[in-house]
Amino acid sequence: METINFENVFEGKLAKNEMVEPKDWMPENYRKHLIRQISQHAHSEIVGMLPEGNWITRAPSLRSKIVLLAKVQDEGGHGLYLYTAAETLGISRDELLDNLHTGKAKYSSIFNYPTLTWADIGAVGWLVDGAAIMNQVMLQRASYGPYARAMVRICKEESFHQRQGFEVMTRLAFGTTEQKEMAQDALNRWWYPTMMMFGPPDAESPNSENAMKWRIKRETNDQLRQKFVNQTVPQVEYLGLTVPDAQLKWNEEKKGYDFSEPNWAEFKQIISGNGPCNKERLAARNKAHHDGEWVRAAAMAHAKKKNEVYEAA
Ligand code: 3HC
Repeated sequence: METINFENVFEGKLAKNEMVEPKDWMPENYRKHLIRQISQHAHSEIVGMLPEGNWITRAPSLRSKIVLLAKVQDEGGHGLYLYTAAETLGISRDELLDNLHTGKAKYSSIFNYPTLTWADIGAVGWLVDGAAIMNQVMLQRASYGPYARAMVRICKEESFHQRQGFEVMTRLAFGTTEQKEMAQDALNRWWYPTMMMFGPPDAESPNSENAMKWRIKRETNDQLRQKFVNQTVPQVEYLGLTVPDAQLKWNEEKKGYDFSEPNWAEFKQIISGNGPCNKERLAARNKAHHDGEWVRAAAMAHAKKKNEVYEAA
């Protein structure tokens, strides 16, 4: 009987743009790469609820409160889809959460900045979710089936989040002088941290080579960052605001903007746990997990009872 070369089958799937599914053979490093990325993506969604949740009780109207509540609730759901996708790779939810709560795992640096004014909620929805969409639309074509499929639903909901943020920024930018100043202040503080969301420069990205080879990433960190700047500058101009970058200028030859890089030393500090809110975010996540123990125990007891009744029937 002919022996199957599983490596060839795996490579063949990638070459034919076919999805790799949980039950398929996959290289151990591919599996580890996916667990790292998908779990950090999930952690980002859950931690991302904190800076936005900070303004639910202070939203300026009932409508904006309802919209923000829906957005924050969506982020929790995105975390659920992604933890579930990560579990298909053979890691438990407990281990995933333990990695977050002990500071072992990363989550997106952007969520370690404070949301100081209501305009920050606009900037987060507009810029952060806008950047997330740019990245996640690409990830809809990732080679791992459960990840790519989770992205389809997440991208649909992110589009609502981006519109929510842009609407907040529009109201402020076309409001009173003070409101426009608040919008500009938020843009100044969120512009560069948002660009860090796409990861370090390609030349300093240890994971990108494999990510591109395994068709997890379809575009590089720098390519997506460039796309984000090209798409966002006209939106800033529409709002009558100013991109906080004196070097920004249109480059006709490359049909894109030349722009200043973010402060990568600051980035390294943030992802090493030394950002403005890292400690606060982890403390909040650990407290929430501890306080939610009784809910998990009750849900497990209920599920166990239902199972017993089902099996007895
Ligand atoms: N924040 C934190 N860590 C980051 C980072 C960021 N913005 N960018 C890169 N890193 C880390 C990487 O995790 C890696 O560290 P590790 O090897 O210990 O994991 C290191 O910096 C080097 O970066 P690489 O470019 O080599 O790493 P990747 O190839 O994994 O690329 C990435 C980084 C582009 C963030 C990629 O992991 C990715 O696309 N992740 C999925 C998308 C995601 O996580 N988005 C986060 C936002 S979710 C969100 O915004 C919620 C929205 O609803 C508000």
